[in-house]
Amino acid sequence: MRVKSLLNATTPVHGLELSGWVRTRRDAKDFSFIELNDGSCLANIQVIADAALEDYDAIRHVSTGAAIRVRGDLVESPGQGQRWEVRATGLQVIGAAPEDYPLQKKRHSDEFLRTIAHLRPRTNKYGALFRLRSMLAHAVHSFFQARGFNWIHTPIITGADCEGAGELFRVTTLDLDEVPQQHGKTDFSRDFFGKESNLTVSGQLEVEAYCLSLGRVYTFGPTFRAENSNTSRHAAEFWMIEPEMAFADLNDNMDLGEEMIRYLVNFVREECRADLDLFCRFVDKSLPATLDNIADNDFVRLPYTEAVEILQQSGHDFEFTPAWGKDLQSEHERFLTEQHFQRPVIVYDYPKDIKAFYMRQNDDGKTVAAMDVLAPSIGEIIGGSQREERHDYLARRIRELGFDPADYWWYLDLRKYGTAPHSGFGLGFERLLMLLTGVSNIRDVIPFPRTPNHLEF
Ligand code: 4AD
Ligand code: MG
Repeated sequence: MRVKSLLNATTPVHGLELSGWVRTRRDAKDFSFIELNDGSCLANIQVIADAALEDYDAIRHVSTGAAIRVRGDLVESPGQGQRWEVRATGLQVIGAAPEDYPLQKKRHSDEFLRTIAHLRPRTNKYGALFRLRSMLAHAVHSFFQARGFNWIHTPIITGADCEGAGELFRVTTLDLDEVPQQHGKTDFSRDFFGKESNLTVSGQLEVEAYCLSLGRVYTFGPTFRAENSNTSRHAAEFWMIEPEMAFADLNDNMDLGEEMIRYLVNFVREECRADLDLFCRFVDKSLPATLDNIADNDFVRLPYTEAVEILQQSGHDFEFTPAWGKDLQSEHERFLTEQHFQRPVIVYDYPKDIKAFYMRQNDDGKTVAAMDVLAPSIGEIIGGSQREERHDYLARRIRELGFDPADYWWYLDLRKYGTAPHSGFGLGFERLLMLLTGVSNIRDVIPFPRTPNHLEF
């Protein structure tokens, strides 16, 4: 049996077996009370071990963190605070936890818990977080599957730099102590793939090929960026959800992003109540209001040019002066969504020079059909665009940026054979979790975070 189903029982259960980890033990005159957690839910179940039990001496040495197996009966609890408890008829210590177990019953800081990332899921907060993360991943798939989107497993190892930002982790089997050279440069023809290869920064280019055949597709998997920015919102390894729709323009794209975020907010409010409640009470008191705000309000849709005007006229003292043609900084994004509009904002039609090569060029010759969804306390949570579906425009842009169209031959082919307008976006799964839990550091929403100089686990 698992604790969750026992706590939800409607009748007593005779003769059950249950395993889990001891959260606390305290002794009364003729009993030991054990709070047992098995990870199935936030709550513990109270186990009563009678002094008459065989091995009672051993039971009295069971301490916080130990793994135990209990046989007994589920009975109505005479005590306060719980409906059910387990009366043990037998109790076995599976794995003891000596006194130096780091998670004794007290509040630990997130910083400390990061240093024991292998044990932190045994705390209430991280247990709740990672149950919620699992449920949410499932909900992402449900959302897309119900709408006819096909999950495409795009490659992790690739030869392309989708975002053109050069933040790549190289993949190589070359001997780094004896790198083969040709004309004074590394000879990648002798590397595993016979060319340069890296971990993907986005599955978008590959998923577009499937979009232009299956019509509605998405990727959902790990993504890697070697950006050396030590912020609370960037990880070197994170998960990204990237839908792509054929015969869809930027407005359809914004509709999908907004619908998806709202669906996921409602999902956690309904399906993850107990775990979500922990975050509302102990992590971010304003979380219920934030989630209501997202669920109840249409997102603002704001052209980039107007966004810059608002920032310039705000009188707010920004560290980076807002100017047309410059990328929005996180402080600008947060000003728009938290202070000016006080709800999620979709900024669209960005200057083409600050966006990726594949975005559809607008008729003004200056902007592209890009969109970023900005959310309170996170800033950018989604980045997406309508894609350039016109072969000549795309090839010209690739050349303008100094890339070789030959390297993009198959991507250009998609524009040569049966091209069609299509749009998509990327949603950072960790940023979504931050938004839905109020957790303010990305390191605390992914099991084993990867950031510069941190690879302990
Ligand atoms: O805006 P980005 O770079 O967009 C793309 O990669 C497109 N190819 C997506 C597409 O159109 N299919 O990244 C998308 C989102 C960001 O809005 C952010 O939520 C998240 O991915 N993200 C990160 N999350 C954590 N750590 C990082 N280093 C991130 N970089 C981007
Ligand atoms: Mg972006």
